[in-house]
Amino acid sequence: MSSDSSSLQSAAVIQEAVQSLRSGGLVAFPTETVYGLGADAKNPEAIKKVFAAKGRPSNHPLIVHIAAPDKFDQSQVDWVPVLAPWVRDLSEDALKLIHAFWPGPLTLVFKKDKSVPLEATGGQDTVAIRAPAHPLTQELLRKFKGGIVGPSANRFGKVSPTSAADVRYEFEEMLDLMILDGGDCDVGIESTIIDLSRDHPVLLRPGLITPGDILAKTGIKVYLPHEYAVLAGQSETPVVSGSLRAHYAPTTPLRLYASGRVLDALSEFPDIKSRVAVAVWDSDSSLGEDGHPSVHFEEVLVPSDSVSFASKLYRTLRDLDQQGWDLILLPEPPVGEEWDGVRDRLQRACFGSGPSSSSHANN
Ligand code: TXA
Ligand code: MG
Repeated sequence: MSSDSSSLQSAAVIQEAVQSLRSGGLVAFPTETVYGLGADAKNPEAIKKVFAAKGRPSNHPLIVHIAAPDKFDQSQVDWVPVLAPWVRDLSEDALKLIHAFWPGPLTLVFKKDKSVPLEATGGQDTVAIRAPAHPLTQELLRKFKGGIVGPSANRFGKVSPTSAADVRYEFEEMLDLMILDGGDCDVGIESTIIDLSRDHPVLLRPGLITPGDILAKTGIKVYLPHEYAVLAGQSETPVVSGSLRAHYAPTTPLRLYASGRVLDALSEFPDIKSRVAVAVWDSDSSLGEDGHPSVHFEEVLVPSDSVSFASKLYRTLRDLDQQGWDLILLPEPPVGEEWDGVRDRLQRACFGSGPSSSSHANN
C-alpha cells in the first residue's frame, strides 16, 4: 500500500472517530504513555459513559487532552488561545513547562475555566490537561476541534493498556467501541502530573519526566507532596485525587523481591506456589543458587534501565498474568528519582494483585 492510500485510510478512520465523539460516543485512542478511553470533554453525558465503562467512581477526575495547531516549529506554538477554553489563569511557570515539555507525557493541573463540566473534574475546581505526543491522536484532536477526556482505557484498578489489542481485551463485550490503533506505546507508564493550582508546583504522580528533568530544563522547582506540606505548614500532604494504594493490578499475585532474596518473597506464600515467574535484570546472570526444590521457576528478563523498564512494564504484567503462574516476582527497583514512576506503579500493582483484589481496591 502506498503511503498516500494509507494516510487516506487513516483520514477516513479519524473522521469516523470525530463523528463518534461529536455524537457523544466513546473512542479509545493511542498516546505515547498508555491508551486512553476518550469522550468529548465538554459533554457531561458522554463523560458519564466513560465512568460507566471503566467502573470508575465519579469523583475521580479525568485528564483533558488537547492539541495545538500543527506547526513545523513547535517553539512557535502559541498555547495561550489553546488553553483559554479550559483554564482560568496561566502563570509564567506554566508556560515555561508547556514550552519545555508539550506535546509530551506531562499533565498540568490548573484552576478550571467555568465552562469545564464538573463531571470531567470529579466535582473539583481544578482541571488536569495534557497535550499527548502521538501523531494519530494529535490529528484526532485537531479534527475534533475540542478537548477529549481520557482516563487509561482499562477497567478500574487494572493494568493500563499499551496496545490496541489490550484495550480490546479490557472492553471485550463493548463490541461497538471504536479503537484507534496507533501501535505500542513508547513511554509505557502514565504521564507525570504536576499541580499548578497551588502557590508552588507539586508532583502528584511520578512519570518519565522527573522533578530533576524539570529543574534542569526550566529552572522550576517541583515539590514532592511531603516537601510541599512542610513548606505550606500543612499537616496534610497533597495527593492525586482518587489515588488508591491498589491500582494497575494483575489478577496473579505479584510481589517484589530485594536483590538475591527470591526465597524470602516466596516464604510469604507457604501453601500453593508451584509455578513462579521470576523477573531478573537483563544485566544480571541468572538466579543461580536461588532455587527451591518444590517450585518451578521460570526466569523472565527485564531491562535494567528505568526508561526501557517502564516501556515494557504493563506489557510484561499483562503477558505474565495471562500465562497462568501462581505467583509473579519482580525485582525491587533501585533507588533514584528516575525509578519513582515505575516504583509507584509496582507498589500499587502488588497491593492490588491477586484474585481478591476487588476486596481492597478501595482503601
Ligand atoms: O498518561 C496519561 O496521563 C494517561 C493517558 C491516557 O493520557 N491518562 C491517565 O488517566 O493516566 P487516568 O484517568 O488513568 O489518571 C488520571 C489521573 C488520576 O490519578 C486523577 O486523579 C488525576 O489524574 N487528576 C485528574 N484531574 C485532576 C485534578 N483536577 N486534580 C488532581 N488530580 C487530577
Ligand atoms: Mg488509569
